Amino acid sequence: MHYKNMENVTVMEHPLIKHKISRLRDKATGTNEFRTLVEEIGMLISYEALADLPVEDVEVETPIETCMTPMIAGKKMAVIPILRAGLGMVEGVLDLVPTAKVGHIGLFRDPETHEPHEYYCKLPDFIGERQVVVTDPMLATGGSAIAAIEMLKKHGAKKIKFMCIIAAPEGVDKLMEAHPDIQLYIGQLDRCLNEDAYICPGLGDAGDRIFGTK
Ligand code: PRP
Ligand code: URA
Repeated sequence: MHYKNMENVTVMEHPLIKHKISRLRDKATGTNEFRTLVEEIGMLISYEALADLPVEDVEVETPIETCMTPMIAGKKMAVIPILRAGLGMVEGVLDLVPTAKVGHIGLFRDPETHEPHEYYCKLPDFIGERQVVVTDPMLATGGSAIAAIEMLKKHGAKKIKFMCIIAAPEGVDKLMEAHPDIQLYIGQLDRCLNEDAYICPGLGDAGDRIFGTK
């Protein structure tokens, strides 16, 4: 491992996540199953990634007596998918945190230069006070993730977690160098990028496989 900020980078170890990612990789997995798997993996990664959410004791009356008992503290969380593919993970996060607000950041990667291009940004208000969770299944060169987090910071976001399903080492290095203050959660770390900046072995084009486009 050659990460400078390993303490902020977590790679998932859960066998269910590993199994489901292997199903995603299979080119024979069709759109319907692919979509379901992305959502399920989004839920499983967010379960791990949200383990450090702050709680505060609140008063609750049980049928027996009144007690102080912990609940999630602070403003409602914000889930921000990077369009399009990040959308596939959102329902999985919302299964666990149904009260979260949802924003959207639209970016696409130029097929020639691999540079990200912004086309949309709509965020919940009070973004600086919320725990922000960015979702995107693929962290390849890191360009899209870096640009999305720059946009979020420009709007005032401070507490940022980035969740991806598959990452390339090159992208992890670039992202953590550009934004060492974020927490990065990775389903599985792959070998490298190919000459077209696709992740190897990867799963191909995540957006196309989720939405059935080419
Ligand atoms: C894919 C993916 C990431 C980006 C990763 O999106 O969902 O956003 O590429 O690549 P990078 O780390 O090299 O920036 P894409 O641009 O293909 O758009 P899409 O989700 O609309 O298909
Ligand atoms: N975007 C994808 O969807 N897949 C890759 O392998 C790289 C970028």
